[in-house]
Order: sequence, then C-alpha cells, then structure tokens
Amino acid sequence: MKVLGIMGSPRRQSNTETLLDKALEGATEVGAEVEKVAVSGLKISPCREIYACLEDGHCAIKDDMQWLYEKLLEADHIVFASPIFFYGITSQAKAVVDRCQALWVGRHVLGIGKEDSRIRRGVFISVGATRGEKLFDGAVLTVKYFFDAIGVKYAGDLLIKGIDGKAQIKEHPMALQDAFHLGQQLVHPDSILKDYHQCSAPNCNELLKPAKGKSCR
Ligand SMILES: Cc1cc2nc3c(=O)[nH]c(=O)nc-3n(C[C@H](O)[C@H](O)[C@H](O)COP(=O)(O)O)c2cc1C
Repeated sequence: MKVLGIMGSPRRQSNTETLLDKALEGATEVGAEVEKVAVSGLKISPCREIYACLEDGHCAIKDDMQWLYEKLLEADHIVFASPIFFYGITSQAKAVVDRCQALWVGRHVLGIGKEDSRIRRGVFISVGATRGEKLFDGAVLTVKYFFDAIGVKYAGDLLIKGIDGKAQIKEHPMALQDAFHLGQQLVHPDSILKDYHQCSAPNCNELLKPAKGKSCR
C-alpha cells in the first residue's frame, strides 16, 4: 500500500509540511509505505494548453512532472497538502494540478487506465491565516476536481484556520494528532468513508464526517 504526500508549501518545515509529515506518520503506523514530494523544489512548468496530450495522454513538457505523473499513478492513496494563498492552493501546487490535465485527457477522452480497479483515496490538508467561513471553499473544490481527474476519491480533509507564523501549527492543541489520525484513516477505508468521528478540538460538539469535506474549525 503506497501513500504519496504532495507538499505544496514553498515554506519548508512549516505548518503544511508539519501536518503532512504527521499524516504520513499515521499512514506508516498502520503499515503503508509512504513518500513525500515537496513541489517547490521541483521544476514544474504551468500547463501551456497545447493539448499534445490529446495524442496519447502524455504531456509534451519534459520537466519534473514526468516522474511525478508516474508517482501519482502508482500511489494507492494521496495526501495533498497546501496552505491557502489568496483563497486557493499555492501556485506550485496548482501547477501540478493543471499539468494533470494530461491524465484527465488520458482517462476521460482516451480511456487510458480504465482497467485500474483500485479504489484510490485522497485527503486534503490545508492551513490559512484568517478565519473566514469560506476560507477553504476554493481550494477544496480545486482538490476535489483534481482527485476526480486522476481517478482518486476525495475522502476527507483537515482544514485549519488562524495559523500564520512559521511552524505555528506545532502550538495547536489538536491539529497534529488529527493529522496523524487522518493518515491512519486514509489507509483504512471503513473508518474514513463510513464512520463519523468526533472532532478532537476542545469544546467542539460537532460531528465531523471527513468524507463530506467538512471541518468543525
Ligand atoms: C502569498 C500568500 C497568500 C496568502 N493568502 C492567504 C489567504 O488568502 N487567506 C489566508 O487566510 N491566509 C493566506 N496566507 C497565509 C498562509 O495561508 C499562512 O501563513 C499559512 O500558515 C502558511 O502555511 P505554511 O507555513 O505551511 O506555508 C497567504 C500567505 C501568502 C504568503
């Protein structure tokens, strides 16, 4: 069971990466083989919309995305992590998403990969500085559609508001534990897709169902 973690923040060892590392630790703890890719260290061009992928599903731009395509297709499950930048994901993470148009074309136009019968799941981890009600709406839609394009079911998320300083997330009372739990759940389909669980934030009485992409924060 392979779990791929995509780290979309350009700030290393900070909030996003700390949460992603915890989620991958959780996945490891329940037996998964994990790998983390920090996209800010890669050379990934934005999509140029030349649609060479319509030929055979392959992108014509020869950069680091070529091996990342392999990793994305090989992974059984994916943890996609990005902070909120202007109500969306970072441009580094968005470049990865946009370049997966080639995989969308492969699947939905050319019918490539239809024989893959795995149920692949993905979860989204994000942090933002502010606390607005719609803070994660744009990013969640982007990631849901991204997962859909590459044949991955959006199975849950951890979305945390009010975090701005470098690695400030380490002071959060529950976030690291929740990320660890999310990583475990990702590898155990029954718990993430069917079960409700109580959010571990203090004084929180809401029920959280990760499969619906809701967060009580
Ligand atoms: C270019 C840029 C844009 C940002 N836009 C938003 C935003 O729209 N809403 C918000 O709440 N925080 C925004 N932030 C704050 C980050 O989401 C926040 O600092 C986050 O904790 C960074 O996570 P990281 O340390 O893992 O990179 C922005 C930060 C930067 C650098």
